[in-house]
Amino acid sequence: MVVPPGTTGWPILGESMAMAMSGPQKFMSERMKNRSPEVFQTSLLGEKMAVFCGASGNKFLFSNETKVLTTWWPKSIKKALIFPSFTQSSFKDIAALKKGFMQEILKPEALKHYIPIMDSMARDHIESEWAPNKQVKISPLARHYTFSLACKLFMGIDDPHHVKKLADSFNELISGMFSVPLNFPGTAYYRACNAGKRVRQMLLDIIEQREKEISESYKKNEGHNYKDLLSRMLLAVDQDNDKLMNEMEVSNNIIGMLVASYDTTSTSVTFVLNFLAELPHIYEEVYKEQMEIAKSKGSEDQLSWEDIEKMKYSWNVAREALRLVPPAQGAFREAATDFTYGGFTIPKGWKTFWSVHTTHRNPNYFPEPDKFDPSRFDGSGPAPFTFVPFGGGPRMCPGKEYARLEILVYIHNIVTRFKLEKAVKDERIVFHSSPIPSHGVPVHLHPHKI
Ligand code: HEM
Repeated sequence: MVVPPGTTGWPILGESMAMAMSGPQKFMSERMKNRSPEVFQTSLLGEKMAVFCGASGNKFLFSNETKVLTTWWPKSIKKALIFPSFTQSSFKDIAALKKGFMQEILKPEALKHYIPIMDSMARDHIESEWAPNKQVKISPLARHYTFSLACKLFMGIDDPHHVKKLADSFNELISGMFSVPLNFPGTAYYRACNAGKRVRQMLLDIIEQREKEISESYKKNEGHNYKDLLSRMLLAVDQDNDKLMNEMEVSNNIIGMLVASYDTTSTSVTFVLNFLAELPHIYEEVYKEQMEIAKSKGSEDQLSWEDIEKMKYSWNVAREALRLVPPAQGAFREAATDFTYGGFTIPKGWKTFWSVHTTHRNPNYFPEPDKFDPSRFDGSGPAPFTFVPFGGGPRMCPGKEYARLEILVYIHNIVTRFKLEKAVKDERIVFHSSPIPSHGVPVHLHPHKI
């Protein structure tokens, strides 16, 4: 049995530090060159792992999802995120997602209802946090907007103090949960675990309060108006009228949705705007497209699904940003049985990883890979399995459309009000669970004359 070439690096640390130091792009391309361009061995987050590379590696993993692979998340991440009594179960078992809730809240009819909410929240946010300033930092503002929107749509919460308190702990949780799992005072992982406990407690308080409100309204025979994901999960019952999920399960699932959506959407919004500030010729084209839409409506009219469908060039720009700075790095699985790939055996129990970084800057798939060129997405676009910011196959990100709407609504509202100019050139990007601009992307704002 020949396993994929490579080394597992240091005990416990494996090659996690090497990846953090060189950045995932360089880490992957060096190992593809020196070990194997198809599949190589490493150790990340304390686990032996086979990294599948290139379009063929992606295709293999995306197509064999249910045959030889099972869902897997590092125990250290589960420990930081969810209640201890659930850490032995797989995420699949605890996912409300399997109950069809996620399909329910992410289906096209539901998404259509979110557009006016996204639009009016973006307008209010820009009015209060962008417009009064000559210069702003995009990253913290984008994070604030996307988290507030998720709180509103997933939990029906819009009190800014409440949102901020939750966001502070949540930020600490996600910034440390992918770090090396050394759980003692002073480490990022230790802080993440403590932040996780606070987040879970806050969610239990929210859930308890919501249950009270719902039961009061039933008592008064008033009915209620809670349509958010959290309330739906609380109210869901099976054929015997028993609750489908207890409070801890609801909390686990809300945390899962926040983790999946928050860093990813805020990072994409940040980097799309970063490129618009950096590349005036791209900005001009996006501005033209967005102004045409704005002019076709009254100033108080909200964006509609039809408007979003017209934002073709802007979406190509967003996709090019997702190619160059992918917010999610890839995903893990576990080998459910021994199997072979590229002449090597992947033993049962090994973890597998696919990574956006083995294709997104590969010149064989994307000529002049470092050039920002939205025209790559014209026509049929990139070759299959090469552009994979949302993954592929049956486990492809179910929030892709939600993300598209959120990004485009935000771009529309920013671009129709300001031209952006970068205040710090050549800003460095550091990697935690997602790419983070080291200065937060400060930009000068040049408001358009109305
Ligand atoms: C630009 C934004 C986003 C990016 C780049 C992104 C990317 C990804 C990727 C790469 C995966 C892993 C696929 C795999 O396991 O192979 C994933 C899974 C997932 N995403 Fe997203 N995502 C984004 C936004 C969202 C949003 C907004 C939501 C929810 C509203 C969401 C919900 C999920 C969920 C629940 C999963 C797990 C699905 C499963 O395990 O079957 N994502 N996403």
